Amino acid sequence: MILVSGGAGFIGSNFVMDWLAKSNEPVLNLDKLTYAGNLQNLQSLEQDQRHIFVHGDIGDASLVASLLKRYRPRAVLHFAAESHVDRSILGPAAFIETNVNGTFTLLEAVRGYWSALPEDEREAFRFLHVSTDEVYGSLGPDDAPFSETTAYAPNSPYSASKAASDHLVRAYHHTYGLPTLTTNCSNNYGPFHFPEKLIPLVIANARAGKPLPVYGDGLQVRDWLYVSDHCSAIRRVLEQGRVGETYNVGGWNEMTNLSVVHALCDMLDQLDPKADGVSYRAQISYVADRPGHDRRYAIDARKIERELGWKPAETFESGIAKTVQWYLAHQDWVQHIQSGAYLEWVQQNYAQRSVEEQVL
Ligand code: NAD
Ligand code: DAU
Repeated sequence: MILVSGGAGFIGSNFVMDWLAKSNEPVLNLDKLTYAGNLQNLQSLEQDQRHIFVHGDIGDASLVASLLKRYRPRAVLHFAAESHVDRSILGPAAFIETNVNGTFTLLEAVRGYWSALPEDEREAFRFLHVSTDEVYGSLGPDDAPFSETTAYAPNSPYSASKAASDHLVRAYHHTYGLPTLTTNCSNNYGPFHFPEKLIPLVIANARAGKPLPVYGDGLQVRDWLYVSDHCSAIRRVLEQGRVGETYNVGGWNEMTNLSVVHALCDMLDQLDPKADGVSYRAQISYVADRPGHDRRYAIDARKIERELGWKPAETFESGIAKTVQWYLAHQDWVQHIQSGAYLEWVQQNYAQRSVEEQVL
């Protein structure tokens, strides 16, 4: 079996469902169920014996060691993290705790388990670390996209904590020979995306008649990838990646935030028009920028294509259509998430951003 950490979050839950749809190999899913972890994401697996869920922390060394001993996974796929940049600005401690200390604890437990395996199992074992393009910092408008050799230059507490975890993974390979793989992926979107992040937030706010908050001038650029493409890239790296290597994963799909918000409004205008006929674009509202906001991310995904033959299957047009349709069909999921704790966060994050102007 494989052990997945953070498999109740956005990408982790998509990965677990995708994995079990494509193979019969069981998944041991270790998740702390923070505000971002949601067992509702995994409802379709409720009766599926191939999915074993454990409510626990990657920072709990004895729990992780006992799970490894009991279930003997052939691979550990490490998704668990605090993942939201804005939260890392308002409260960085949890990011250091899980992303740095938690990854360290997980690596130590895995090292102990792996080093005691019989030789053939030790050789076949993999630790796959799921990381982000944000570790590379911010690009200027004419800079080449991030490659695997781009120097690390993280700018937020989130990206710094992910960079630290990447370095630990690298060191465990270099020093102890742990068979690691690292993926650095660009912005994901799709089903089960928590509505604190731009795309699901805009869909939820648009439908609720609330402002669509655009930070600063809205001309920051992100490279969007549909989540199932990220899942297929991780699977490919696990199966065929060269031990000790890192692989950048991206959609070759750079867009400004404003054009993403426009695309969402236009799609909602078509699929779920407002009764008064006014476009959702009328709800766009420019608010104070994110401190230290990275201007542009873009991924050079040629290595994973050249070495492993991976390419994204979805275009932004096909992926965003599926995403909007999914959210329209799963409003109960959004409502369930928008609990007291979530509302408190929204208040804290947006109260300090003055609404600068409203545009059509
Ligand atoms: P998410 O916030 O939706 O989910 C994180 C999951 O980890 C949650 O289920 C949470 O309960 C769990 N978790 C948090 N702390 C834990 C701990 N100490 N022990 C066990 N479980 C814990 O995040 P996501 O967007 O699904 O991201 C998953 C991974 O992919 C992260 O490592 C993130 O850095 C990386 N990543 C995300 C994106 C993106 O666009 N979302 C892009 C590239 C890389
Ligand atoms: O690049 C990969 C990263 O993408 C992942 O490592 C992170 O885990 C993931 O959260 C994401 O980070 P971003 O900060 O890019 O995602 P977010 O959805 O928070 O913001 C996307 C862009 O939209 C960013 O430029 C900030 C902007 N934004 C965001 C919110 C929430 C707004 O303009 N308004 C908003 O209300």
